[in-house]
Amino acid sequence: MAEAVDGAHEAVVWKVEPHSSVAEADDFDRSSRQLDRPRFKIERRLSFEERSLSDLSITGNLRQVDSYGSMHSFGAVPTPTSPDWSPFELPPMVDEAWDALRKSVVFFRGQPVGTVAAVDHASGEVLNYDQVFVRDFVPSALAFLMTGEHEIVKNFLLKTIHLQSLEKKIDQFKLGEGVMPASFKVNNNPTRKTETLMADFGESAIGRVAPVDSGFWWIILLRAYTKSTGDLSLSETPECQNGMRLILSLCLSEGFDTFPTLLCADGCSMIDRRMGVYGYPIEIQALFFMALRCALAMLKSDAKGKEFMERIMKRLHALGYHMRRYFWLDFQQLNDIYRYKTEEYSHTAVNKFNVIPDSIPDWIFDFMPCRGGYFVGNVSPARMDFRWFALGNCIAILSSLATPEQSDAIMDLIEERWEELVGEMPLKISYPALEGHEWRIVTGCDPKNTRWSYHNGGSWPVLLWLLTAACIKTGRPQIARRAIELAENRLSKDGWPEYYDGKLGRYVGKQARKFQTWSIAAYLVAKMLLEDPSHLGMISLEEDKVKAPPMKRPASWTA
Ligand code: GLC
Repeated sequence: MAEAVDGAHEAVVWKVEPHSSVAEADDFDRSSRQLDRPRFKIERRLSFEERSLSDLSITGNLRQVDSYGSMHSFGAVPTPTSPDWSPFELPPMVDEAWDALRKSVVFFRGQPVGTVAAVDHASGEVLNYDQVFVRDFVPSALAFLMTGEHEIVKNFLLKTIHLQSLEKKIDQFKLGEGVMPASFKVNNNPTRKTETLMADFGESAIGRVAPVDSGFWWIILLRAYTKSTGDLSLSETPECQNGMRLILSLCLSEGFDTFPTLLCADGCSMIDRRMGVYGYPIEIQALFFMALRCALAMLKSDAKGKEFMERIMKRLHALGYHMRRYFWLDFQQLNDIYRYKTEEYSHTAVNKFNVIPDSIPDWIFDFMPCRGGYFVGNVSPARMDFRWFALGNCIAILSSLATPEQSDAIMDLIEERWEELVGEMPLKISYPALEGHEWRIVTGCDPKNTRWSYHNGGSWPVLLWLLTAACIKTGRPQIARRAIELAENRLSKDGWPEYYDGKLGRYVGKQARKFQTWSIAAYLVAKMLLEDPSHLGMISLEEDKVKAPPMKRPASWTA
């Protein structure tokens, strides 16, 4: 760990002034006591105004969207504010989870700024699990927002956007200005009485993977904060507006692309190792879509902001079309691909990417139910990765990248293929696992990603919050209830592992950390979402019928 951070130290160190009360162990205890109990102080705040893609004119025509209002109704779900709700109904596991979540809080100059990835004292090798990961903090942040504890989230958003503004260099190479860190840690120097934040932009990460998802999660979280607090002042600060624009510049820049999807290297998201997820992975495309929609709602209509808003709208339109059309797979679509002709030339081609039917893997024919469908893992020339990826599909539902019909079909698939995708521990990160020769070639013989383990078909409790949110959005809370029940049978007993192994997810992961913070936070978020579905508005965007942006006639039309 120290080595990993030392590397970062040279390039990216944010120094703060020496101060008299450097956070001590004592401080930690005191502050964590302040944050002690979940405070179910849920006020129904007005949702902050969101821009609709179709309604928005660049002059900033805002429309009020109350996501909850248009959601499916669940009848009498007891909520913390309803007369039926009693705190004593909560299983002891919830209390235990809150205690564990609070123990993971990291302080910087006495202020809470995030949560560490894992508090696993038994595990000898810490690696970077003692850092605050941007993606890992999201479920923690949602849990805190749901109980009205906003400060930690605000601090996190501000600290990470400051880290973005540092000069980032790996060897001789200067990284893009908008790159957000994968993680950071607080370095404490007791002799000099200084605290320093040290960030890792991928230079210390195993395999030097690029955290493309970090910037997207940051934007999504900024919207969640704004939506939950009703406080626009944070997102409107010059720091946040500029930070957003820098992230957007990176992913909206023009290049050689023939697709609106975002081209990425392998391992650039939650799956941060070589797993054949290079190219146009669904996880990134869905997060990209969601972040664009969130940014659109938060950018100010000043000169710089307007320019980005226009670019976002055009990209969203093209990206939505591309994803819904080319990444979508159901029984009918599979049958069409199976019968595809190849080598078609010209824009009239039906088989746009020249997918060779012989490359369709055998497993998909049995796996595909008559009822159901999903967004496949990747689409690029002559390559369709038919694997299922849970995060991308859940984010597609939450962002409304998936149409309502597609969202329903994804939920149908989860129900129809429960054993494969949920098994005994929700939820498989990807399905199916790569084995044998394919595993050797695709993962580079990765011993951590052997079949049905870790990213290669392992089961990750953190995905429970995403599944629950998707279930609520599609009006199928019973699916979430079933999944949460499964998690409750094992999670606490097993010490909140990072992931489970095996086809059914029955075994605690071979190298899984215990007391993995996002496993703990995801459980709490899932419980709170079920108890009070109005929380969904923080992390869900309503469907927005995007009208085609006005097209300029190419000169050739009139020629
Ligand atoms: C592993 C996971 C990654 C996570 C990190 C910290 O590297 O693959 O997704 O962010 O651990 O928990």
